[in-house]
Amino acid sequence: MTFTKDMKMADLIHKNYLLLSIISRFGIPLGFGDKSVEEICNEYNVNTYFFLDIVNSYSNENYITDVQHNNFSIHSIVRYLRKTHKFYIDQIVPEINCLITNLYQNCFQQKDNVKLLLNFFDEYKNELLIHIKREEDVVYPYVLNIENAYETKKISKKLVAQMKNYSINEYLNEHSNIEEKLLDLKNLIIKYLPPTSDYKYRNKVLAKLFQLENDINDHSRIEEKVMAPKILEMEKFLFSHFSIDKQNSSDE
Ligand SMILES: [Fe+2]
Ligand SMILES: [Fe+2]
Repeated sequence: MTFTKDMKMADLIHKNYLLLSIISRFGIPLGFGDKSVEEICNEYNVNTYFFLDIVNSYSNENYITDVQHNNFSIHSIVRYLRKTHKFYIDQIVPEINCLITNLYQNCFQQKDNVKLLLNFFDEYKNELLIHIKREEDVVYPYVLNIENAYETKKISKKLVAQMKNYSINEYLNEHSNIEEKLLDLKNLIIKYLPPTSDYKYRNKVLAKLFQLENDINDHSRIEEKVMAPKILEMEKFLFSHFSIDKQNSSDE
C-alpha cells in the first residue's frame, strides 16, 4: 500500500510501527489526533512529498519516487540522512551492543562463541562508523556545495578543483555495501551459534539486527536512488555552464 497526504498520520504507525523512528527523525512527535499527513507535515515545516517518499520507500522497497513531486532540496535530503546516521550511532548500535553484552554475561555455555559474536559486531560497528564519517566529512558537504552552485549559478574555485577530481559517480562506485556484513551476523546467530537456553536474548539481538538492516537498506537507497541522481543532473549542468573539464585519472 502507498501512503498518501490525505491519510491520517496515526494510521501510518498502525500500518507499520517501525515508521515511529522515521517520523521522529523529522522532528515530528506523537500526539497526532486525527490530523492528516499533510496537516502534520505543514505544522512541523516538513516537505510533505519528501516525507511521503521516505515513509513509502521505507515500507515498500519497490516503491518508485513520484517524479511529479520530487522537487525537494538536497538540503532536506542531507538533513534527513544525517539524522539517520545519528540514530544509528546514538541509539540502535548501542542497543545491539548492550543486548549482545547481556547475552554474553548471561550465557554459561558457549561463552567463546558468543565472544566471537561480540567481536564480529565490534568490527561491524567500526566499519559503519568509517562509512558514516566519510559521508559526513566529504560526500554531504560536496553535494550541498553542488546544490548551492546550481541554485546561485555561482561556483567557487575550490569546488571547480574538486569537481575535476571527484564526482557523485565516484561516490556511487565507492559506496560500500554495509548491509552485507549484517547478513553474516544474523546467520551467525540463526545458523551457527550452538543452541543454549539463552534464546530470549538471542531473539532480541536478532530482532534489532533485522531492524538495523532494514533501516540501512532504506538509507542507502535514498543516498543512491534519490540524492545521487539529482546531483548527477546538477553536475552535468555545472560542467557545461562553467566549461569545466574533468581531469583524467592518467593526468594525476
Ligand atoms: Fe549514509
Ligand atoms: Fe552510505
